[in-house]
Order: sequence, then C-alpha cells, then structure tokens
Amino acid sequence: MARALVARSTFLGGDGRCSSPASQVSPFSHVRIGRPDRRQREISCTATVGTGIAPSSRIESIENDGRVYNFAAGPATLPANVVKKAQQDLYNWQGCGMSIMEMSHRGKEFLSVIQKAEADLRALLAIPDNYEVLFLQGGASTLFSAIPLNLCSPEDTADFIVTGSWGDKAYKEAQKYCKANLAWSGKATKYTSIPSSGSELKLTPGAKFVHVCANETIHGVEFKDWYPAVGEGTILVADMSSNFCSKPVDVSKFGVIYAGAQKNVGPSGVTIAIVRKDLVGGAQPTTPVMLDFKTHADNKSLYNTPPCFAIYMCGLVFEDLLHQGGLEAIARKNNDKAEILYRAIDGSDGFYKCPVEASVRSVMNVPFTMASPEMEAAFVKEAAGKGMVQLKGHRSVGGVRASIYNAMPRAGVEKLVALMKDFQARHQAK
Ligand SMILES: Cc1ncc(COP(=O)(O)O)c(C=O)c1O
Repeated sequence: MARALVARSTFLGGDGRCSSPASQVSPFSHVRIGRPDRRQREISCTATVGTGIAPSSRIESIENDGRVYNFAAGPATLPANVVKKAQQDLYNWQGCGMSIMEMSHRGKEFLSVIQKAEADLRALLAIPDNYEVLFLQGGASTLFSAIPLNLCSPEDTADFIVTGSWGDKAYKEAQKYCKANLAWSGKATKYTSIPSSGSELKLTPGAKFVHVCANETIHGVEFKDWYPAVGEGTILVADMSSNFCSKPVDVSKFGVIYAGAQKNVGPSGVTIAIVRKDLVGGAQPTTPVMLDFKTHADNKSLYNTPPCFAIYMCGLVFEDLLHQGGLEAIARKNNDKAEILYRAIDGSDGFYKCPVEASVRSVMNVPFTMASPEMEAAFVKEAAGKGMVQLKGHRSVGGVRASIYNAMPRAGVEKLVALMKDFQARHQAK
C-alpha cells in the first residue's frame, strides 16, 4: 500500500540571474516556496511513494549529502557538481523564465545550448572538421540498424569483430541490411579477450566497414590502443557507448563513432554519432528518414524535436570534463581508479576473480566473481547497505560488476575496495 513520506529540505536561493517574481505560489499545494531573496529558501514536500520505501531508507550509512556511490552500468552516476548545476538552473534557466525542458528547440536559448555542447565535445575529442557531430535518439541500439543502412547496400559485406553481447547485437541487426560477416568472435572463451592482432581476423577484402565495440559493458573487455587496420575503402566503426570520453581517441581513424550518453556523458535519451562527412548521404533508399544521417546532418540535429534536456546535460558534462583538464587528465584518473580495483581483485588470493585477460580489462566496467552466487548476493546487499549500489552483475553473466565511469569518484572505489577486504576477512574459509 502506498505510504506518505514527508521530506524537508533546504537549498540556497538564486544566483541573481533569475528573474523570479517577489513571491511565488506553487501550483503544487504541498510545495511552498519562500521569498526569492538571497537568504535560504525552504521547501516542505510531501510525496506519496508507491513502494512506501524511500530509496535512502534502505541504506544504513551514506556520506556527504545523501548521495550514494552508484556503480550502475547505465544510466550511470553523473558528476555531482553537474547534477547540482542542473538543479540550480532547472526552474528558471538563465533568467529566461522557464526550464530547458519547456523551451522551443528552435529558440536562440536552446540553440546556444546545443551549439556549445557540440563545440565542447569537438574540443574534448579534437574532432576534425570533416566530421559531423549528431545528437540522435533511439539509443545506441538504433545505430545497430542505422550504421549498415547508411554505409552499405544490401549486397555489400560488413565485418564484425564480436567481443561481447553488444557487438553481437550489432552483428545480428546488421544481417537484415547487408551481408554481415563474423570476422572474429570471443564467444567460445565467454568474451574474456579481444583479438591481439590483425592476423587473427577473418576480414573480407572490399568490406564496406569493420565494426568493433570499443568497450563491452557486460563482459568488461576493452580495446585499449590497438584497433584493427582496415583496407583502403573500408571504414572502421566503433560503438563507444561505455568508454566515450573516458580517454583521448584519434577520431580520424574511424568513419563512425557512436555512443549512448547514459554511461559517461549524460542521461539516457540522446545518442551521439561522430560521422565522417563523406559517409553522409549514401543511405539505402528505404532507410527511415530518422535513421538517415543526412537528415540530421542537414538539420544540425534539429530535424525533429531533439531530446533537449539530455543534450543540455551532456553539455554540462562536456564543460566539466574540459574544466578537469580534458581527456588526458580524465584518462589518468580513470586508469588510477581501475588499477586500485583490479589490484584488490588480483591481490585477494583468488577470493575475488576477474575472468578477463589482464591486458584487455576494461577501465570502465569491472566484473568479478566470488565462490558462489549466494556469496556474491550477500556482498552486493552489504555494499548497498553501506551506500554502494548497483553492483550486481548483468543478468546474463551474473557475478558482481563495478562500473567506474568518469563520474565515479576515487573515494567510491576506495570505499568499495575497503569493503572487499573486510568482506574477505569475514568470509574466507579459515
Ligand atoms: C556498449 C553498448 N552498446 C550499446 C548499448 C545499447 O544502448 P542503448 O540502451 O542506448 O540502446 C549499450 C547499453 O548498455 C552498451 O553498453
């Protein structure tokens, strides 16, 4: 039965740019907003929650301001300062009297948001001028269809290097639109490795493109510096959903890079595609208008109503990444966090095991197993009680998985490692 929960919170007033009236009556009778001066405002909020359990009431100990360490694979944790900035700007964005969610996508305000987001992403990844940056919808899964539709005719061959579930999904979807060839598969070894050289691949001469998943979110394998060399006229395509903007990438090696935002750079709802300009305009005639790269390139991602709020959030994340020193600095932080975690796993005398070949272990998604599913479940439960949530491995592989994207603080990884050591001391067979 639904139970009413009463929460009381305070926050600091506006930043002086907002043009709120002197007093406001909220349309919600349970929300009272005080005078919008520079003193503290107070909100009383009564909310009815279906389950009757407030998320935080399930957690025994949390730090700081009530935020948990969220190890989810996506939608994933966002930088706390970005979430706070969005909260601060939500009600009345830059004094224009409405939120980003309410304004026209064709107005000058939103145009400034999407243009800045693109410019900042171009700066972060040093995207060459001969590439389009497209803000799309439908998730990375939609690109599994859009890529072959845009790059191939039904008679063309495309090669797929399948290093995990996501690469496999892309391969299977492409079979509908072109001749998809399995150039390499890690299935026999449960997706714990990637090819180490081009000689392992069964590439097709004259293939239109070679597709890789740069980081397999479920299995935790990642292409580090090496990518397959492709023949002249063949395009390298990468699904970078789960390591996008986690490190510098030489964009010019790729014809298309695409990524769902909801892991490293924003909320769900927007998918970013970086497409070499000469690859735009050759879609198969039956390609739905919304899947044709040309539609979005010609209209600067504003052919139809875009996911405005998600694009705005990505823009805030890009700005934050630039402030942190860009992707070289981010990569150093990410490598450091991953090293702490893998060192703990490898130093546990086999209590924790990571099945992935050491040289290709993902810096973003760290899967590990324990002696039994029951023990793993106990660990995940205990972690949640201590404010470290979403550590359960993907339902298809089980185990534990810690996703430690850009926005996961080092302190979150250190806290996880401390629990791992403590848990081991209490549960290891004597
Ligand atoms: C590597 C990778 N590719 C593609 C997808 C599918 O993304 P979406 O849910 O945005 O369609 C995911 C989702 O987790 C992913 O991790």
